Amino acid sequence: MSFSWNGLHVLITSGPTREFLDPVRFITNASSGKMGWALAEEARRLGARVTVVSGPVSTPAPEKVSVKWIETAFEMRNQVLKMAKKADIIISAAAVTDWRPKKFSPSKIKRKKGEVRLSLLPNPDIIREIGEIKKKKEGRPQRRPVLIGFSLETNGLERSSLKKMREKNLDMIVANSPASLSSEKIRATLFSKIGSKKKLPLLSKRLCARKILKEAGNFL
Ligand code: C5P
Repeated sequence: MSFSWNGLHVLITSGPTREFLDPVRFITNASSGKMGWALAEEARRLGARVTVVSGPVSTPAPEKVSVKWIETAFEMRNQVLKMAKKADIIISAAAVTDWRPKKFSPSKIKRKKGEVRLSLLPNPDIIREIGEIKKKKEGRPQRRPVLIGFSLETNGLERSSLKKMREKNLDMIVANSPASLSSEKIRATLFSKIGSKKKLPLLSKRLCARKILKEAGNFL
């Protein structure tokens, strides 16, 4: 591929989100944000301008990458919607917590005896919203932003990844298993909307990011 990444804006979501019950307690997941950082570093190396909207993670951000720190799914959504118009590629590597507590208590909930029931509401599906916006504009074919999602499943990975790609109007989806969650390595398969399937071996996240961006180049 001979196009240049110089001047392109790559927007990446990364890490987990936190959904608070009270000021000190939250539900979240085991995402380390390492895949997001690897994608950011690779996109930078290619010459792109990179913004990462990241949930709380312990690994430091790569150099020369703009980071917007958020905690909740709603905060992530607001940041992404603000920046989506100016992005050439959006890569959704974040493990957005699927639910949030129905009620937030502004003061710490007191410990008491007996069972406690937690009521949860679904969080907004951020990449799907962006996919919807892109679809609505497709009176005439609109290539950008190129949308790339991730899919992590314990079973039925290929089938549900293809379903997600279609339903969320993505150009590509990176299918992987929970083993990659906090790991340095990832075994992924890249599916694209034109029917391609690339099964990658177990790779460092950096190398996997390189392969994902190479594929993404086909859609720019
Ligand atoms: O539907 P599922 O959560 O498995 O889809 C995964 C893809 O959708 C990932 O790219 C993830 O970052 C994105 N996603 C999102 N907002 C959510 C849930 C998932 O953007 N609330």
